[in-house]
Amino acid sequence: MKFAILSDIHANFEALEAVLRDIEAAHIQRIFCLGDIVGYGANPNECCTRISEIAEARVLGNHDEACLGKGHIEHFNSVARMAALWTQKVMDEPTRDYLERAPMSFPLLTGDVEALLVHASPYHPNDWHYVLSEHDAAAAFRSCPDKLIFVGHSHVPGIFVERGGEVIFHRALAATLEPDARYLVNVGSVGQPRDGDPRGAWCLLDGEARTVTVNRVTYDVEAAQAKIRAAKLPEILASRLAWGE
Ligand SMILES: [Fe+2]
Repeated sequence: MKFAILSDIHANFEALEAVLRDIEAAHIQRIFCLGDIVGYGANPNECCTRISEIAEARVLGNHDEACLGKGHIEHFNSVARMAALWTQKVMDEPTRDYLERAPMSFPLLTGDVEALLVHASPYHPNDWHYVLSEHDAAAAFRSCPDKLIFVGHSHVPGIFVERGGEVIFHRALAATLEPDARYLVNVGSVGQPRDGDPRGAWCLLDGEARTVTVNRVTYDVEAAQAKIRAAKLPEILASRLAWGE
């Protein structure tokens, strides 16, 4: 069985559609979303509707929470705060309802796969800790028994491996899942990548082959930028899409 796991769409409908076309071309029907569907981009309702149609499950992200008027928006930088306040105003009722009902984490359990899906670190997920270093990843591994953990949040794809109590950052964006190791996979961001690569990211989990792979997809960046500018959201939210930063 193959699964697509995607995260941090951030109301970028052009990126989401391109990623979904790639997922369809890979003949994958089982799709899961790690949250931050809204916030930053200009199409929160369109993205939420699309995810609700195609994703088997989704978890809550910190921007989803902020756009619901919950969480700690005062901890956001000014640009993120402005985007959250704009999103609060334009969100429709089905979007609000869909986000309100999102769990903090989701156990993906099938015949050949057992994994934990969560937006930020599974270490106190409500506190939205980032997993950026081996130290962060070690705390994440200690906080749960799962052998396979999928996260988003940082918008930087990457794989951490724990074996015999030691955690190392896996350089490649693909790995074969060995039975004696545990894996924490950051699937990157569909709609606002921050690793210097402006292409949208999504993760393919192949339960039979026991592999995870982060794929990248080009999309119409200029169209997404034009919508952000037309909505009078902060200019940096449009320009950064071209850099992937
Ligand atoms: Fe995010």
